[in-house]
Amino acid sequence: MEKLPDETKAGSSGAECIKVESNVRLHITNAGKGWVIALFVLIFIAVSACRKTSKSPGDNLRPASFTDKEWLGKQLFFDANLSEPAGLACAGCHASQVGWTGPDATIDLNGAVYEGAVNGRFGNRKPPSIAYGGDSPNLHPDATNGWTGGMFWDGRATGLTLGDPLAEQAIGPFLNPLEQNNASAGVVVAKVKQSKYAILFMDVWGLHAFDDTEKAYQMIGRSIAEYERSEAVGPFNSRFDTYFETGNGLTAQETLGLSLFNGKAKCANCHTSTADPAIGRALFTDFTYLNIGVPKNSKNPFYSELTFNPLGASWVDMGLGGYLKSAGFAASVYEPELGKFKVPSLRNVDKRPNTSFVKAYGHNGYFKSLQDIVHFYNTRDVAGAGWPAPEYAASMTSEVGNLHLTTTEEEAIVAFLKTLTDR
Ligand code: HEC
Ligand code: HEC
Repeated sequence: MEKLPDETKAGSSGAECIKVESNVRLHITNAGKGWVIALFVLIFIAVSACRKTSKSPGDNLRPASFTDKEWLGKQLFFDANLSEPAGLACAGCHASQVGWTGPDATIDLNGAVYEGAVNGRFGNRKPPSIAYGGDSPNLHPDATNGWTGGMFWDGRATGLTLGDPLAEQAIGPFLNPLEQNNASAGVVVAKVKQSKYAILFMDVWGLHAFDDTEKAYQMIGRSIAEYERSEAVGPFNSRFDTYFETGNGLTAQETLGLSLFNGKAKCANCHTSTADPAIGRALFTDFTYLNIGVPKNSKNPFYSELTFNPLGASWVDMGLGGYLKSAGFAASVYEPELGKFKVPSLRNVDKRPNTSFVKAYGHNGYFKSLQDIVHFYNTRDVAGAGWPAPEYAASMTSEVGNLHLTTTEEEAIVAFLKTLTDR
């Protein structure tokens, strides 16, 4: 099994790589065809070299396409010093090479949950992508679609405190003992104040930005959200986007996949494939919550992590309902939501560094390939299909589970999902 070169645990920002890439891109537009190939070789060498030599965050090598706040957010996102002990950046569990989710194929193949800054402490869910989630509204009960919005698989970054679920999410991991494990917001703010990008922080948020710790901590969250919403993270430049704009560019198989996705296979009922009115792009999520019946992933190390999980092997992830219960809602409100998880965007769902790299799917990473999960949607309820029981049965949707898709049709849907990879 392979593991990607781990830039993030070493604390580099990759800033030099970006500079090299953007300079080279400029040359390509002026160069002839033969030169393009030569330049690609050069880019490869340059990028491999800069992996090793990239400097710490704060080095002033910002490409023109970044705003100050986005660039500041990027420094924070890649800063491996913001954990206790140091060594784990946000990017350690959300890497661009794999579509901003977990970068370790061996982990994906097994428990699919990632280790925090403290050795041996694991989270209990698979890291979702940080991209294309920025348009999620605050968590609220919608009259037609039920609970909608918020961030995290269970919606607990509601957005109701900061007015922005993405910014609110971003200040969670720093203090989570299973993730970056800092003792308090003050500790994180003090580290940022000592960082090479402290001046940039004050440029963006004002000379007195560090004076009020609570506010400074919120500004850290807002800066990261700005980066997560930026074109650098969500460029909308997949082959699907080209097709969306021009009506061309998909193969016959992919076009069949798209029409099944929108029709017979019902995928678009939840993973919306039409333009979001606010941004004019398809986000492949409607930000609602459902239980599709994902089986338990018994390889999740959380089952034996008794300090944080006193229920041990009998623990069941209650998703949205679990959050609503802990937030004090009445049983009549939270009970129907137990076992439901947020519909994830499918953008970059296939993105991986090479074809043999394994990615995990679903909130607990039970599925190990797109073929697997599509086959599950198609046959979950077919007698003799052999799927294990769902992790939580009571709230399971019957909208999917027996779609009558042929093998050719399943394959076409998988082919279509692969067109959602950013270039
Ligand atoms: C140890 C691994 C780990 C680290 C470090 C980490 N995350 Fe995550 N991230 C996760 C997991 C796991 C989830 C899902 C947790 C859940 O839903 O309960 C998640 C969820 C998210 C989401 C929600 C996406 C969605 O669609 O709801 C965003 C955004 C995010 N992380 C950004 C960040 C940022 C910003 C940082 C740094 C401040 C960070 N993460 C650090 C593992 C990690
Ligand atoms: C009724 C709503 C609904 C429909 C219909 C639906 N999905 Fe999903 N999808 C979800 C939810 C909810 C999840 C997360 C479930 C979980 O993890 O427990 C999910 C997860 C996924 C994932 C995993 C993504 C990840 O990053 O882990 C993929 C891939 C996916 N769906 C593809 C499809 C395809 C393809 C179809 C059509 C065959 C489809 N979905 C139909 C609601 C739906």
